Amino acid sequence: MEPITDRATPHPLVAVAAAGRLPGWAAAGRERRAHMARVAALLEAWARELGLGKRDVVRWAAAGYLHDALRDASPSELGSLPGMDAAKPRSPTQVAGSGAGGASGKPVPPDLPLRRLPPNARHGPAAAILLRREGVDDPELLHAIRWHTLGSADFGLLGRALYAADFLEPGRRPRKEWREGLRSRAPDELENVLIEIVTSRIDYLSRAGRAVHSRTAGFRESLVNGRRRCGDVYYR
Ligand SMILES: [Fe+2]
Ligand SMILES: [Fe+2]
Repeated sequence: MEPITDRATPHPLVAVAAAGRLPGWAAAGRERRAHMARVAALLEAWARELGLGKRDVVRWAAAGYLHDALRDASPSELGSLPGMDAAKPRSPTQVAGSGAGGASGKPVPPDLPLRRLPPNARHGPAAAILLRREGVDDPELLHAIRWHTLGSADFGLLGRALYAADFLEPGRRPRKEWREGLRSRAPDELENVLIEIVTSRIDYLSRAGRAVHSRTAGFRESLVNGRRRCGDVYYR
């Protein structure tokens, strides 16, 4: 067996997650797990279609299973997890005060503690914290999981694919035909597909009078500007 420190070998927790086995701390009910399995299957198919290597196929499938590992934990519980009180690291690509406040007109400052994130966006950062604590040292995978709800201008290809797969997995009912159409264009036209997804999310939030997080606005901006930032990892 190759040593765990070999960068070519995913962390054992990631390797078993790719086969659908979640960590003991996971809080995800039956329906949630079915959603995670569909996201994982879509990501695995896309990774193969893109011709990625074995290690990446495993990482992509694992991201599908792990992204919602804490989705059914209570947001207040997640907010008090050690590490959630740390300020979010500032990133050069963050769009602080960019007017991305949606209908409320109040931009969400990007450097608030993680526990101040909207309740439905806490499970990603919390899962990333626990995975890092377990020894998973894969910045692209952790970033993808951390920001899969809000989006990120700093996503690698995996983060972008996870954001799209989470939205396009075939179990999602609303606007089924529209989703099917977008799914049929991925992963080849991933950037354009993502622009449609994120634009539709922002429109929905604005119409509902809800704030658009600066990360979501920044993610859309990065896609529209055609920036292709993949952290340290470039696949093509
Ligand atoms: Fe999620
Ligand atoms: Fe999800």
